[in-house]
Amino acid sequence: MPRAARLDSAHITPSAHYTGYVWYRHRLAEEPFVTAFGRLAHGLLAPLSWGARTAFGLDVEHLLLQRHLLIDALLREAIEQQGMRQVVEIACGLSPRGRRFCVRYPDVRYLEADLPPMAARKRLLLHEEGWLDSRHQVRPVDILAESGAHDLQTLFSGLNPEAPVLVITEGLVNYFELPVIESFWARLAAELRRFPAATYLTDLYPDLREHPRYRQLRWGIDLVGRLTRGRYYLHYQDDAAIARGFSGCGFSAVRLHDPKEVAAAPQDAWPALVRVVEARV
Ligand SMILES: C[S@@+](CC[C@H](N)C(=O)[O-])C[C@H]1O[C@@H](n2cnc3c(N)ncnc32)[C@H](O)[C@@H]1O
Repeated sequence: MPRAARLDSAHITPSAHYTGYVWYRHRLAEEPFVTAFGRLAHGLLAPLSWGARTAFGLDVEHLLLQRHLLIDALLREAIEQQGMRQVVEIACGLSPRGRRFCVRYPDVRYLEADLPPMAARKRLLLHEEGWLDSRHQVRPVDILAESGAHDLQTLFSGLNPEAPVLVITEGLVNYFELPVIESFWARLAAELRRFPAATYLTDLYPDLREHPRYRQLRWGIDLVGRLTRGRYYLHYQDDAAIARGFSGCGFSAVRLHDPKEVAAAPQDAWPALVRVVEARV
């Protein structure tokens, strides 16, 4: 890990309250997923979101919904068409996906994971609603941990090693410098090779310098960085570079998905700013 990298990423956690409120607003989540901080943050940021929407046509909630609905669609396809029955969602935050998919697919095992304080909060939330059981659980993990109780090996040790697994991260990878997140991807690919088949789905914002909204996006992500007391990085300059990056981390097949694939996702007049990467080992 480069010396400049932060060794702890707890400063990112508050952003999960904001996105949790966005999922609720768009009827993707039930009320228990809403926190007072999420509602407050959404209200405080509303003038900025309005400004970006009216001045540049950039809708933050569109960007969030595009990635969320695309990951949902790919997960549904994996369950319904490929028989996937084990799902691990890392950096789950206050996302309602685990709950929604457990209700819809009673034979899917869904493990949610996040940094210990957020994992504890999510576990309590699901427990209080009576939504936790042997197939829907929450565990602590730190994607920066290379060993110890919060590393990937410990997280995956609770799964059935004889069955395929699908891993999701959403709203996570652009908070880290490329060498740091590539080191996570390499450790993840190594863990996934222990399973007979494995798929990794993640959203990723590339550094699309020719994009008509590039300057506005840069402005927006600098703001996200400042609000989360860290930085927000754009990774890889085009789709080919993304595919090369994932291959270099040990994934053998990489497909890139565009929000335009999902009819339910809001569409913009210009090419999408976000990709969802589907990588297999
Ligand atoms: C922007 S939120 C996204 C939450 C959720 N995936 C969503 O889309 O609503 C980022 C999440 O990453 C988690 N996170 C930050 N650093 C992490 C780490 N080192 N390991 C695991 N999760 C981490 C935070 O706690 C937070 O829940």
